[in-house]
Amino acid sequence: SWTTHNVVEESVEAIRAQVGSKRVVCGLSGGVDSAVAAALVQKAVGDQLTCVFVDHGLLRKGEAEQVEKDFVAATGVQLKVVDAQERFLDALAGATDPEEKRKIIGREFIRVFERAAAEVVAEAGAHGEQVEFLVQGTLYPDVVESGGGTGTANIKSHHNVGGLPEDLQFQLVEPLRRLFKDEVRKVGEELGLPSEIVWRQPFPGPGLGIRIIGEVTGERLDLLREADAIAREELTTAGLDREIWQCPVVLLADVRSVGVQGDGRTYGHPVVLRPVSSEDAMTADWSRLPYDVLAKISTRITNEVPDVNRVVLDVTSKPPGTIEWE
Ligand code: XMP
Repeated sequence: SWTTHNVVEESVEAIRAQVGSKRVVCGLSGGVDSAVAAALVQKAVGDQLTCVFVDHGLLRKGEAEQVEKDFVAATGVQLKVVDAQERFLDALAGATDPEEKRKIIGREFIRVFERAAAEVVAEAGAHGEQVEFLVQGTLYPDVVESGGGTGTANIKSHHNVGGLPEDLQFQLVEPLRRLFKDEVRKVGEELGLPSEIVWRQPFPGPGLGIRIIGEVTGERLDLLREADAIAREELTTAGLDREIWQCPVVLLADVRSVGVQGDGRTYGHPVVLRPVSSEDAMTADWSRLPYDVLAKISTRITNEVPDVNRVVLDVTSKPPGTIEWE
């Protein structure tokens, strides 16, 4: 029978049988799937696992810390953190087209992750150990969509760094292959992961990079992080965070509007609230949030976030609008 406890026990057995005494590497994104997959592997083979977290600076407020501190405290996992914030900002400088931003972020992510993975392999090699496995948080719907195959991943390190292997071949460990999202969350709770991670709403891989309309800069990211944190905090306080599917907060960085605050005229940026309800993100409806919650979010953002003087609500369904603005 399906109990979360059984699922965990069976996964742990299966992972041990697959991995044996070899070493394993896993990339953490900050999202629930990679966190639960890593926690299962950690439970199964402990210190044979090394996790890699690429901090690209595009996560929301507190999310990097939740991975680096809370996740590590909850699981005891060995974590290699790569601070790549400057690198991503440099690569994104001047880019305003949504697809170009996605390409840049994806490309840089792969490069940084591959290099970190190659270092993990080299460090293990120095101790006479081999890293043969890569963990992926593939869920059942992804398996069905891709035709059910399982296999290997090739990583070309293509970094001219002494001591790193040229090509890396990993077999995949996919402990979530038979689970749906809600089951993954139950497993995460069973494993004692922080609820901020287990209950995190879907968040796009390119992160806040596609929630700044215009060029991505460090300053703009800081503004958006503050506005987003306020919206999330108020939605949580109102008990609505698990009810709505997602609530992107979008900074219209190239738009300014006139406002008045205190004694003076302001000329600041708007942020857009995009709360949606959905089953699978293919279609969505805008969420009818209570006016008092919207009012609280608006008042707090305009009071607390410098340079943001207007909060607007997106009342478009999908289709015709997408959930994200880019
Ligand atoms: P849209 O904006 O297309 O989004 O209605 C549908 C869902 O996908 C997420 N999304 C992304 N996820 N990389 C991702 O991993 C992306 O580039 C990306 N773009 C959109 C979005 O947050 C929503 O859940």
